[in-house]
Amino acid sequence: MPKQRRVPHGEGPDVSAGELRGVPQESTVLDLGSGYGGPTRYLAERFGCRVIALNLSEAQNQRHRATNAKRGLDGLIEVVTGSFQDIPCKDRRFDVVWSQEAFCRSGDRARVLSEAVRVLKPEGALVFTDLMAAEDTPAEVLRPAVSRLGVDALATPDFYRRTLTGLGLSRIDFDDQSSQLVRHYVRLTEETHQREKELRGIISPAYLDRLLGNLPLWVAAAARPRRPAGARPAPTRSLSWNEAPEYARTDRCTARALRPPRSPQDRGRLPWGR
Ligand SMILES: C[S@@+](CC[C@H](N)C(=O)[O-])C[C@H]1O[C@@H](n2cnc3c(N)ncnc32)[C@H](O)[C@@H]1O
Repeated sequence: MPKQRRVPHGEGPDVSAGELRGVPQESTVLDLGSGYGGPTRYLAERFGCRVIALNLSEAQNQRHRATNAKRGLDGLIEVVTGSFQDIPCKDRRFDVVWSQEAFCRSGDRARVLSEAVRVLKPEGALVFTDLMAAEDTPAEVLRPAVSRLGVDALATPDFYRRTLTGLGLSRIDFDDQSSQLVRHYVRLTEETHQREKELRGIISPAYLDRLLGNLPLWVAAAARPRRPAGARPAPTRSLSWNEAPEYARTDRCTARALRPPRSPQDRGRLPWGR
């Protein structure tokens, strides 16, 4: 865990080397696709800032709120049910827009980014991690793996760079965390197998069977060493467990809203009364 420095009142968020290093306590952060709220609580606890957590699933949000209350964090965190495709919030509202492994679930990531940038204050920071495809990966190779996410394909770092630049963001910085991706999926596969019996009593057999069939595809997609420059491109066919080519990657990205675009009208749809 990198050291966070205390950010004095009046300064903007401190982002560098693909990381959110500091946030002034008076900041408001928006967490997009917040799930059960682990990262949301990390932000509130670490920086003492206010966090709005926007997430599609009301069932997850109920559990998120209950955990926040137990941990005494409900004063700092507000959990809102809604979609990051259409953020229910006025323009230029947040010092930081944060998201962790959620944009990969969107069928329209250009729209998500445009919404994220719309709600950023000038000098605000967009900080996210996402599952991505390696630049030269044909979409059909990853399709069996990504089907569980409900999408056709993953974005690439180049897509994010171009789209964010087009939206007026500067200082776009990627940090390749692909080695974590392999570790994550290997560990998740092992754990799911070890606890299969217990899980069959808690979640639907169909879901578990789909998951067990899908996880090896992710291990395979993440595990191959990088293709050297000039080498033959990846074959266009589906992956199997023991091929282990690297087609998927995971990156942290940070970008600053130095020239945030003005939208024609501030939509002012404020479910939480601000
Ligand atoms: C892999 S989980 C990540 C959760 C959390 N960020 C974390 O790292 O623990 C992806 C989350 O994105 C949420 N999600 C998917 N589509 C969404 C959308 N259109 N708007 C808001 N949340 C969405 C899902 O409900 C899910 O909780």
